[in-house]
Order: sequence, then C-alpha cells, then structure tokens
Amino acid sequence: MPDTCVHTDAASTAGTGRFGAVLDRIENETAALDERGSPAGYIPLLAGADPRRFGMAVAEPDGTVYGVGDWQQPFSTQSITKVFALALVLSLDGERIWQGVGREPSGNPFNSLVQLEYENGVPRNPFINAGALVVTDRLQTLTGDAAGRIRELLRTESGNPAIDFTPAIAASEAAHGDRNAALAHFMASYGNIANPVPDLLAAYFRQCSIEASCADLALAAGFLAQHGLQADGSALLTRSQAKQVNAIMLTCGTYDAAGDFAYRVGLPGKSGVGGGIIAVVPGMCTLCVWSPGLDRRGNSVAGVAALDRFTTLTGLSVF
Ligand code: DON
Repeated sequence: MPDTCVHTDAASTAGTGRFGAVLDRIENETAALDERGSPAGYIPLLAGADPRRFGMAVAEPDGTVYGVGDWQQPFSTQSITKVFALALVLSLDGERIWQGVGREPSGNPFNSLVQLEYENGVPRNPFINAGALVVTDRLQTLTGDAAGRIRELLRTESGNPAIDFTPAIAASEAAHGDRNAALAHFMASYGNIANPVPDLLAAYFRQCSIEASCADLALAAGFLAQHGLQADGSALLTRSQAKQVNAIMLTCGTYDAAGDFAYRVGLPGKSGVGGGIIAVVPGMCTLCVWSPGLDRRGNSVAGVAALDRFTTLTGLSVF
C-alpha cells in the first residue's frame, strides 16, 4: 500500500496518480522540518494540538482527491470558513457587501483594532476578523443562520454530511472572545453591524468551530478553481466573482504575511488558526494542508512550507 492515498468518486486513477509522488515527497520533507511553530494559544481548546501532525490533500474537478498523512483527520477550520461566508454573501447579495468592508490588504494582524477607528469602522478586507464579522453579520441577516449555511455548503461540496460545529471549541473561543467582541461593538457604533452583537458573535464562533478534513476542504473549495461552478455543475458564483474571491485570497488570505505567502507559494490561499490552509490553482485543482503549529502571524509553519514545495515542484502557480 503506497503512503499516498487516492480517493475517487468519479474517475478511476491508476497507482498514486498525478499528484501522488509529489505529495509523498512533500510529506517526507515536511517530516524533517525542525521548526514547527506553536498551536494557537488564545483559544484554549486549540492550544494542546500536536504541531507534528501533518496532512495534505489535492482535489481535482472530477472529485478525485489525493492525500498524505492526516489528510482525512478533521481539524478546526477557523478562518478558512471566511472564504465560504464571503462566497455565500456574494452569491446571495452581489456587490452590496462592499459598502461595509474593503478589499485591501491590512498589513496588520488578523485581530487588530487600530485601523478601524481611522477608517470609520469599515474593515480593510473580509478575511481579517473585523471584515469577517461584517460578512457573517450580512449572511445572518440574509439567511437567519449564517453558520448553518456555511456548514451546509461545506457538506454539499465535500460530499461529507458529517461535517459539523464543535460546540466546545465555540464555547472556548467565546469565553476568551473579548477582542472579537470589541471589534464587533466598535463597528456597531459606526452602524456597520445590523444584528445584535451577542447574536453575531455566537454565529461567528459557531462558524469558526466547524471541523473538516483536508480532503473535505479541498473538495469544498472546488468552485474557486472551477470559475464558480459547484460539484453538481451549478453556479455558486459567476466567473467574475470567483476571480474576485481568489484575488482577495491572494492579497489578504494570510493577513500581514500575504506578501510573503504570494512570494513563496504563488497561489490564492486562506489560513486558519487551527493550522489549516486552503489554496487554489484556478482551472486545475484545490489544495488543503493542515499542521497545527503556527508562526507569529497565525499561519501554519509546515503548511506554508508544504505549499511552497508543491508549487515549486509542480510549477503550478498563478504566476
Ligand atoms: O476569530 C478568531 O480569532 C478565530 N476564530 C479565527 C482566527 C483565524 O483563524 C485567523 N487565522 N489565521
């Protein structure tokens, strides 16, 4: 049995297929990494994760998934859900969201407060926490159940009905959620939040608590590689909207490390403090990598290294 596993719903794949060898190589190289970073400390239930865990999956448009290591292990998706929240709001509501959130890199940490006052309660982009709160607020208004809609999208696109919230993680974050509460209240004071702040925070913490595996997330992000088309061929986003989401991932998806991520990896990507990162090769495939040790900007150390090796070894990048 090769180390690389191939799961296919659609096509038959010979041996370890197109990406098997490269994933095996990346897994071996990653195992030799000494510097792994530390798990997120500010959400107590994430703090105990083992930084040596590592999984990686690549999904192709026909549903073929290649994976190595802990590629089927569910982990805390956290900020990765911000991409799916934005996609849902764009699909339901079009351009309106840009009245309340910008599209520029912030150059600041993901939970920073400082820019908000200078910029009148309008966050720089939808992937820092303040911007994600605006997006979830809008999704809550549009659907009445923002977190539920994100979970439904992940389940449908991954084909995994077991994807779910982790109430203990949401509670752990809520108990230490003063900074997100401050961001939300501050934006509410500018009229940029429509729902009661406690309701918004509950929805946001539920959304962030969703657990899914590398295989699930690589499949669920497929619409970003397929110009907005979902697994069943229907459009979640227009081609132009899919381009826009990918562009914001490239410029803002890894916070104040987005420049370095673009330099090293050369793909639209979105990280979460659970240690996951999704990345998109438009028109070709989607990736998800997970390793819980983070750098000081909140991105998985082994995850960024693995994506760097993937694009270097395969030559697949947007550049
Ligand atoms: O709001 C928070 O702080 C977390 N629920 C999510 C932050 C996050 O994942 C940032 N990622 N690198």
